[in-house]
Amino acid sequence: MIHELPDFIRALDAADPVRNFRSKFSLPSGVIYLDGNSLGALPAATLPRLEEVVRQEWGTGLIRSWNTHDWIGASRRVGDKIAALVGASAGEVVVAESTSVNIFKLLMAAIAARPGRNVILSEAGNFPTDLYVAQGIAAFLPHISVRAAEPGQMLDAIGDDVAVVLLTHVHYKTGDKYDMAAITRRAHDHGALMIWDLCHSAGAVKVDLGAADADLALGCGYKYLNGGPGAPAFLYVAKRLQTQLQSPVTGWLGHAAPFAFTDDYRPAPDIGRFLSGTPPILGLTALETGIDLLVEAPRDQLYEKGQKLCSLFIELVERNCAGYGIEIATTRDSKARGSHVSLRHAHGYPIVQALIAEGVIGDFRAPDILRFGFTPLYLSYADVWRATEILRDILATGRWDDARFKARAAVT
Ligand SMILES: Cc1ncc(COP(=O)(O)O)c(C=O)c1O
Repeated sequence: MIHELPDFIRALDAADPVRNFRSKFSLPSGVIYLDGNSLGALPAATLPRLEEVVRQEWGTGLIRSWNTHDWIGASRRVGDKIAALVGASAGEVVVAESTSVNIFKLLMAAIAARPGRNVILSEAGNFPTDLYVAQGIAAFLPHISVRAAEPGQMLDAIGDDVAVVLLTHVHYKTGDKYDMAAITRRAHDHGALMIWDLCHSAGAVKVDLGAADADLALGCGYKYLNGGPGAPAFLYVAKRLQTQLQSPVTGWLGHAAPFAFTDDYRPAPDIGRFLSGTPPILGLTALETGIDLLVEAPRDQLYEKGQKLCSLFIELVERNCAGYGIEIATTRDSKARGSHVSLRHAHGYPIVQALIAEGVIGDFRAPDILRFGFTPLYLSYADVWRATEILRDILATGRWDDARFKARAAVT
């Protein structure tokens, strides 16, 4: 049985300063979308903007649009917009490739800048691609090895043999958030470079790369930036490092003068050297449309609401779902987490599938994590209330315990 929406929830929504942003998204009715931490929702402006770019800029403008519509500058232009979201300056961020490829580029650049050091330090249980790319590099470079420290021991694990530390700011499973400034300081104290993976931070929580004296960072465009499935990723290189570091992918668009068409590579004197080839204009268009909503939003209020949604969810799950084997896997400390909350349950997979069948979309991360993202741009307090009511009802009735919820799909 689902209870009526209580007055205090209505009051929270009525007082929500960013509630109008929901109408700027095309969300299906009957769905409570708690997976914007995995794939952001579709902004209402994306389809018309894509249609305009396809019909007019591509269809009519043809190749002229590289100049007339500044397609050629899109990687930097959208990068500058992302810079404003993550506490970087204009000229410190570009949009390029995927997160995985940017991890490769930045790790290689950092290793080359720290000769004589032989360790890539990361975290046990980090998002797999971060570890896999580091391991792939170690397989190619015999003097490099990967050390994966336990999260609680990270500060102690940073020693003088470390060339580069690669950490995810907000953990993809637990939602726990590192103290970016403290870890970066320790890396610098030991002469290492620091790379932050911002996939679960950018657009979700306040990030201040400048204040943390961050060296390098990267992140994806398809989660809280709402750039669409497979949106291009971004990377950040602090201005003070840009001319010291080299990209291992020395494509023509990273050249100082790509249209001089010379035979010898000469890197651009700025962040442009981390570009490689022709940018995906349709993907960049969708990404820019998503980012424009965040640029427009009062971000401090947005992040505060994200935390309130997370806290409300935790509080309601604790209060209403006790006794069904659910454990809260994310910290209660709103200053030490991202904008998603993870629960643990031995039957997490079928419970998530039962929720999805009833319109509450979260996801599952093996072996036992039920993950729920709280995207303040398009979620209401009422959504959180209803989602926890449906969760409680599914647990109380045991209707998750059904064969149709147990067959694992390719994407969980
Ligand atoms: C922390 C983190 N890094 C990287 C990725 C994925 O990398 P890519 O965008 O190359 O698929 C994810 C995907 O969820 C992630 O959570």
